[in-house]
Amino acid sequence: MILITGASGHLGTAVINHLLTKISADKIVALVRNAEKGKALKAKGLEVRIGAYADKASIEKAVEGVSKVLLVSSNSNDALKEHKNVIDSAKDAGISQIYYTSGARNENVSESKLGSLTDAYSTTENYIITSGLPYTIFQNGLYAETLPFFIGYDVVNTGISFPAENGKASFAKRDEMGKAIANVLADDGHIDKIYKLTGSLSYSFAEIAELLSEFSGKNVAYESPDPKDYETKLKEYGVSKMDVLYSTLLASIIRNDEYNVVSSDLDELLGHRSIDLEIYLEDTFIY
Ligand SMILES: NC(=O)c1ccc[n+]([C@@H]2O[C@H](COP(=O)([O-])OP(=O)(O)OC[C@H]3O[C@@H](n4cnc5c(N)ncnc54)[C@H](OP(=O)(O)O)[C@@H]3O)[C@@H](O)[C@H]2O)c1
Repeated sequence: MILITGASGHLGTAVINHLLTKISADKIVALVRNAEKGKALKAKGLEVRIGAYADKASIEKAVEGVSKVLLVSSNSNDALKEHKNVIDSAKDAGISQIYYTSGARNENVSESKLGSLTDAYSTTENYIITSGLPYTIFQNGLYAETLPFFIGYDVVNTGISFPAENGKASFAKRDEMGKAIANVLADDGHIDKIYKLTGSLSYSFAEIAELLSEFSGKNVAYESPDPKDYETKLKEYGVSKMDVLYSTLLASIIRNDEYNVVSSDLDELLGHRSIDLEIYLEDTFIY
């Protein structure tokens, strides 16, 4: 039995859908935070368990009788503590292997802007590695699907205004990351491996604007505003506090080149080449 946490989320859903093409539904258990979120999963034939990472007792129940646990990273400020609850509960339950979706990061960057995300990523990874549990870690790059959030859908007409300067990042489609993770979960092995689920090329936002210009036949300009001016503008537009924080943090991480990580691991786990960012850009922004 494989427990998929974050089962109601985008990545968890992709993992489950791909896993269902490989193993039967009665071998998959889904963890969700409330029964309502589990309805669609139940309809697919999965056993649904209710729990939240912060509530250790609920996690202890959720891991009962499962052999593999996929820990999808938490978004919370308390992510490290929450992750530890899942890892400790899984270890105490005697599972055979833990899988964790971490974040890809450029190890050559000396001063990270990741802030509390560092704990959620590196410290959780180290906690898993030293736990003694057989593990597989997925260092996920940026989801291509996050791009419209930062640059808008009408970018061909508006141009790109995002304070990433010349920082580069690689992007991969979340569904393909889910497929790669499902392939690993359905297999035995991959023990004590760390995979980088990233695109195979990195792009600056100036290069993204150039590609969009080429695909649309229009001049799509890129400007990297002063980060403070950008933040003020987002607030003036009425963007929520949380989204302002997320956008400015992401811009500073990209500016710092921290998502400039490329690897062929995703292609290898998929068994085929992953979708290039260029194709994603054309499919998403050109209409
Ligand atoms: N690589 C990237 O570009 C990128 C971008 C954004 C986030 N991330 C990270 O990757 C993770 C998965 O991405 P996603 O797109 O699937 O995010 P998502 O759609 O927001 O889904 C996150 C899932 O995790 C569950 N979850 C979050 N915190 C939890 C907690 N404390 N206890 C139990 N369940 C919890 C959520 O439950 P609910 O449905 O109840 O909320 C949801 O099912 C995110 O949680 C975040 O850490 C990566």
